[in-house]
Amino acid sequence: MKIVAIVGSNRKQSINKKLVAFMKERYQEKVDIEILPIEDLPMYNQDDELTPPQVVTEIKKIVAESDGVLIATPEYNHSIPAFLKNALDWFSRVDKVMIKKPVMVVGATPGVLGTIRAQLHLRQILHALGALTLPGNEVLINSALEKMDAEGNLTHEPTLAFLDTVMENFIDWVEKTKKL
Ligand code: FNR
Repeated sequence: MKIVAIVGSNRKQSINKKLVAFMKERYQEKVDIEILPIEDLPMYNQDDELTPPQVVTEIKKIVAESDGVLIATPEYNHSIPAFLKNALDWFSRVDKVMIKKPVMVVGATPGVLGTIRAQLHLRQILHALGALTLPGNEVLINSALEKMDAEGNLTHEPTLAFLDTVMENFIDWVEKTKKL
């Protein structure tokens, strides 16, 4: 099963990047997770959408050919970062690559609310894109710096157990939604 991962943070030491890298390794026997280089996407401009830069076409093709999408996002000012919204805006137009695409949402933060406000906005945006977001299964990793080691491995057992369950639920969801 081919899953593409989108990380909503462009900073080098992003804990959401580390979380996705950890998931790629932990679930490698079950799913093949490819991290999308959304930092290569230019700022969306409707003038360019019919003749976009080649990188846009290439990245959209990877999304279109995937079985599902994993999105890991921080919360910026009670919503998702513009960096992530930009990618989703490209994906929403012309060949609308997110339609009927199963999506799993996760988020990690050093703060206490676990990116909940960003994730609620993200689920609303994904609805606009026609994606099939895994219902429930809210992976809200708060106080993340205490739940990860220096390499970014998740070490907090209850969180790990929950993440394992959600990944199983997502794999089932990808299989079920193929029939839609
Ligand atoms: C934040 N941060 C933040 N945290 C939060 O819980 N609610 C918020 O509204 C915001 N807003 C916000 C805006 C901006 C511009 C920045 C840079 C940061 C803190 C944020 O969650 C924290 O920096 C995370 O570590 C960012 O995720 P990555 O980059 O580590 O993946």
